[in-house]
Amino acid sequence: MRILITGARGMLGSDLSRIIGDEEGHQVVETDVTGLPESFRLDITQEGKVKDFIAGAEPEVVINAAGYTDVDGCEKNIELAFSANAEGVKNMALACQRSQAFLIHLSTDYIFDGNKGTPYCEDDSPNPLSIYGRSKLQGEIYLRQILDHYLLIRTQWLYGKKGKNFIETILNLARSREELRVVDDQWGSPTFTRDLSRAIKELIEKSASGIYHIVSEGYCSWFEFAQKILELSGNKVALTPINSTELSASGGCPAPRPPFSVLSTEKLRKDEGIVLPAWQDSLKEYLLNERQ
Ligand SMILES: NC(=O)c1ccc[n+]([C@@H]2O[C@H](COP(=O)([O-])OP(=O)(O)OC[C@H]3O[C@@H](n4cnc5c(N)ncnc54)[C@H](OP(=O)(O)O)[C@@H]3O)[C@@H](O)[C@H]2O)c1
Repeated sequence: MRILITGARGMLGSDLSRIIGDEEGHQVVETDVTGLPESFRLDITQEGKVKDFIAGAEPEVVINAAGYTDVDGCEKNIELAFSANAEGVKNMALACQRSQAFLIHLSTDYIFDGNKGTPYCEDDSPNPLSIYGRSKLQGEIYLRQILDHYLLIRTQWLYGKKGKNFIETILNLARSREELRVVDDQWGSPTFTRDLSRAIKELIEKSASGIYHIVSEGYCSWFEFAQKILELSGNKVALTPINSTELSASGGCPAPRPPFSVLSTEKLRKDEGIVLPAWQDSLKEYLLNERQ
């Protein structure tokens, strides 16, 4: 199958390319806004270019892993957030409709407000708290308005080999500080981009469509995630739980985050028989084998 990936140099995009292309033998066309030869540079905000590129590449499947993902940056750069995360998706959907390519798009738990108290299902009502969440929700709306047939995947707390992720941040800070303070009142499922990419590959091969939540099994707070990272890497730095209000007061993380935005994976398991590994197992594997 010929599969075009946008944002292919990003954290998820690079694992998608590796797993779908190298491991499975599909023909992958990698595109990104920077870091690739000129002829594979594709800015998803440029409507005409997106249309021409997709028409020329003739993919059967397109995976949109591109986006403006700096959650705090989005609060300041509102126009950029909506242009990449909403208008960019509209451009991708229109181009795929015209070229009869099947579009797979990535969205986030940040479209929810995190006040439900139990894991979110695919048809729960969104209510984003941040600009990032609002821009991603607008992208979802465009996708669903333009296309009858698509795959919309919501995920959360991603980490992977390529990119700035929470695990690397904690390990770097542990080298330079005597104490780490991490929030203990936001919960989610840390998800390895390798596991997510394998699930997406499986969904493509099953010709699945609709909305799916794809995250690791189980959930934790950021504090518990940090605790496990330090424990598994044998690091003894002092770790103190704090709450989100304390974090904001100290100037960290200006964008509001949902407190409990755990995503239910019931539908993925029931409809497609796909279950990702427990977050602790994948973390172990990442720390042992996958770090660059
Ligand atoms: N990371 C998470 O925890 C998380 C959670 C839920 C959902 N998601 C979603 O998953 C997808 C992939 O996330 P990620 O963590 O892999 O993000 P990432 O590492 O930031 O990768 C995104 C890629 O898109 C590129 N990009 C930015 N603007 C673009 C544009 N206008 N046109 C084309 N490419 C553009 C980026 O290039 P530059 O780096 O040069 O800007 C980067 O290579 C995103 O849709 C994100 O919203 C991520």
